Amino acid sequence: MAHHHHDDHAGHHHTGHHHDHADIDWGEMAPLLEAQAELFTPLYEHAMAWLAKRQTEPGLVVDAGSGPGVVACLLADTFPGARIVAVDGSEPLLERARARAERLGVADRFGTLAGELPDVLDDLDYPADLLWASRSLHHLGDQRAALAAFADRLGYGGTLALQEGGLPARFLPRDIGFGRPGLQARLDVLEAEWFAQMRAELPGSVAETEDWPALLTAAGLRPTGTRTFLLDLPAPTTDRARAYVAASLARTREGVGERLDAEDRATLDRLLDPDDKASVHHRPDLFVLAAQTVYTAVRPK
Ligand SMILES: C[S@@+](CC[C@H](N)C(=O)[O-])C[C@H]1O[C@@H](n2cnc3c(N)ncnc32)[C@H](O)[C@@H]1O
Repeated sequence: MAHHHHDDHAGHHHTGHHHDHADIDWGEMAPLLEAQAELFTPLYEHAMAWLAKRQTEPGLVVDAGSGPGVVACLLADTFPGARIVAVDGSEPLLERARARAERLGVADRFGTLAGELPDVLDDLDYPADLLWASRSLHHLGDQRAALAAFADRLGYGGTLALQEGGLPARFLPRDIGFGRPGLQARLDVLEAEWFAQMRAELPGSVAETEDWPALLTAAGLRPTGTRTFLLDLPAPTTDRARAYVAASLARTREGVGERLDAEDRATLDRLLDPDDKASVHHRPDLFVLAAQTVYTAVRPK
């Protein structure tokens, strides 16, 4: 499994590094994935609070495609009576998840399960009361079949919470003082093309209209809500946010930079040059504004 992940166009944060053929080495992306999920923690906390107030205390919470476990540990905080199982295809990422659970003092009710989604879910001992899948479904070839498999692992009355889509993140004002305004919008287009290619090359790839409530319904669930959560880190921003933007744009440069016209490429290179005062490493107007959407659905009793 190795598909480069390029999420920003769909309102997810960046998580990897680019290759021409949409290959993602998840283990290699671990530090970046972890740092990004940490930066996005305020957004996830809002999502968790929204989930918690609409659901009875779950016994078993499954995080499908957990990555390094930042969100899985937030789930553990949110549901102090629950057992959490973080499921992922990448063992190095699950190692990080276990280490994090240990550091945060929740290891006694935190487990991991390594293997390919969705089939690996068959190895769960109990039905889940809450199955959370953030930005993982879109890495599976047949999203409809995967949702049906997720639904099948829920107990009756259990909730599936799917985080997919939202808005592309924004880091810079429309006019940054050089180059042609609208650079990020043009990058979004290239990233959407990249994303489509990534999906087309997944094993067993099936084209699907991404109407999530309709797909959740087709999986036998009853949609119960859709809500979008913001990450709003305004200028002047933190060093951590700056590092995220720099890493994110560097990956964009690597992944789709050659498809930009010469002027936009020069603008992006300037933004990435640590020696340039106008780069994202130094400019005072840098911010992070991102929006991610969560869809919930319940398995009828
Ligand atoms: C973009 S990351 C999302 C991580 C985390 N859920 C988050 O929101 O920060 C996608 C995760 O899905 C996992 N993944 C991708 N394809 C998979 C597959 N076929 N089976 C299991 N895990 C997979 C990757 O290893 C990675 O950890």
